[in-house]
Amino acid sequence: MEITFRLNGETVHTDETPTRTLLDYLREVRGLTGTKEGCNEGDCGACTIMVDDENGKRALNACILFLPQLHGKSVTTVEGLSEGETLHPVQSAMIEEHGSQCGFCTPGIVMSLAAAHARGDTAHKDVLAGNLCRCTGYTPILRAAEKAATAEVPPALAAPFVAHPGPASPEFRPTTSDALAALYADHPDATLVAGATDVGLWVTKQMRDLDEVIFLGGIDDLRGIRETDESFEIGAMTPISELIAPFAPYSPSLSEMYRRFASVQVRAAATLGGNIANGSPIGDSPPPLIAAGAHVTLRHRDTRRTLPLEAFFVAYGKQDRAKGEFVESVSVPKAGLADLQVYKLSKRFDQDISAVCGAFNITVSDAQVTAARIAFGGMAATPKRAGAVEAALIGQPWTQATIDAAMPMFSEDYQPLSDMRASADYRMASAKNMLQRAFINAQSVLEVAP
Ligand SMILES: Cc1cc2nc3c(=O)[nH]c(=O)nc-3n(C[C@H](O)[C@H](O)[C@H](O)COP(=O)(O)OP(=O)(O)OC[C@H]3O[C@@H](n4cnc5c(N)ncnc54)[C@H](O)[C@@H]3O)c2cc1C
Ligand code: FES
Ligand code: FES
Repeated sequence: MEITFRLNGETVHTDETPTRTLLDYLREVRGLTGTKEGCNEGDCGACTIMVDDENGKRALNACILFLPQLHGKSVTTVEGLSEGETLHPVQSAMIEEHGSQCGFCTPGIVMSLAAAHARGDTAHKDVLAGNLCRCTGYTPILRAAEKAATAEVPPALAAPFVAHPGPASPEFRPTTSDALAALYADHPDATLVAGATDVGLWVTKQMRDLDEVIFLGGIDDLRGIRETDESFEIGAMTPISELIAPFAPYSPSLSEMYRRFASVQVRAAATLGGNIANGSPIGDSPPPLIAAGAHVTLRHRDTRRTLPLEAFFVAYGKQDRAKGEFVESVSVPKAGLADLQVYKLSKRFDQDISAVCGAFNITVSDAQVTAARIAFGGMAATPKRAGAVEAALIGQPWTQATIDAAMPMFSEDYQPLSDMRASADYRMASAKNMLQRAFINAQSVLEVAP
C-alpha cells in the first residue's frame, strides 16, 4: 500500500506491507534507533513518538502503529526533536535534573513530555503513566517535566500542522464512511483497523498475517461527538482521549474511568468503535454505556440498524454484526448519566485492563428504587447486565436491608471465571462490594474516590 507522510520534516513515500509497524520501519529501514523497542505491545512507552495532524500533536506508541495509519500526517522521533545543536527544553531539563540512568526509557519519556509540552498539558503523572522507567525513578523525571513546563515551545513544534497535499489516500484507506460502506461490503473478510491498539498486537504478539486490511483512520465523518439536549452521538472513530472532557459534567466517574483507560498514548489511538466492536468481555466502555442505556448503530452499505448496546454482545467472541457491517456510532442518553457510578478494578491503578468493571445507574425517588440498570465487565463471557440484582432492587426501599437482600442475586447473574487477572471468588466479592459502594456513594455517607 503506497503511503506518504512526513518524518522529522522530510517527506517519505513507502510501499511497505500494510501491517509493517512504524517502530520496525524506523529502526530497520531508516536506521532511526533512538526509538526503542521494549514490550512491543503498547505497555512500556519506550517506542513513543509524536504524531501531528489536523487533530493536533500527540504521543503514540510506534510499536502498534501500522504505516498506513500515518498517511498524510507528520511524525517526529527523538532524532528530530532538537533543532541543530539546541536541545528541546524537555531534553535539557532531563539532563539538568538527572532524569536518566540506563537511558533505555529516556527517548520515549522525552517524546511523551515533549508532546504534552506542545499541548500545554501539565498533568505530568498522567502523561507519564504509559512510560515505564525501571531505574531512575520518577521523581527526577517529574522535576524535569515541571522545569520544562515554563519554557517556550520551540518554533517548529509551536507551528500548527500544515497539510501537505500528497497522493490520494490508498484504496484500502477510505476517507468517507460511504466509501467504507461500499469497500467493506465488497471485501467482507477484510480486517478493519481503527486505532490498532488491539489489532496491532495480533501482528506483533500473535504473529498473525492479516490478508486484507481496511484502515479507518482517514474517515473524518466517523470521528467526533455531536451533543444534543438529550444525548451524545459519538462517531465510532472518536478516540478514547476525547471522551474524558465531554462526560465530566454529566458523570464524573465515567470521565475518570476513561482517564484511567490504558495510557495517554493508547487513549490517543484507541477508538470507542474498536472498544465495542472487539467484543471483549473486559472492555471498559460497554458496562457504563450499557448501564446508561446507550444504543449502537451498525451500517451495511446504505442500510443502518440501531440496537441497545447490550444486545450487540451475543456470546463470547460473537457479536450481532453481519459480514461487511461496521459500527458507525454510539448514542448515549444524557438522562442515563445523571446517576451513573463506574468502578474500574485493575491490578495497577493506571495503564491496566480491568479485572472487573462495574457500572450502576440506580434511580431513587421518595426513598424507593424506581429503576436500575447495572452492568459488569469481567464477570461473564460478554459485558452483561445484572438482571436479577436489578429486579431485587426495583420497587424496594433504598436501604442497607435492600442491598443485603440483593447480594445473593449476583450468583444468578454471573458465574465468573478465574484467570490471570483475578479469581472467580475475588471477582464475585468485588462485584458485591461495588454494589455496596454504589449505595454508600449515593448516600454521601462516605466520600469514596472514583
Ligand atoms: C497497553 C494497552 C492497554 C489497554 N488498556 C485498556 C483499558 O484500560 N481498557 C480497555 O477497555 N481496553 C484497553 N486496551 C484495549 C484497546 O485499547 C481497546 O479495546 C481499544 O478501544 C480498541 O480500539 P482500537 O481503535 O485500537 O481498535 P482496533 O485494534 O483497531 O480494532 C479492534 C477490533 O475492532 C474492530 N473494529 C474497529 N473499529 C470498528 C468499527 N468501526 N466497526 C467494526 N469493527 C471495528 C477491528 O476489526 C478489531 O476486530 C488496551 C490495549 C493496550 C495495548
Ligand atoms: S515497545 Fe513498549 S510500548 Fe511500544
Ligand atoms: S533510565 Fe533505565 S529504564 Fe529509565
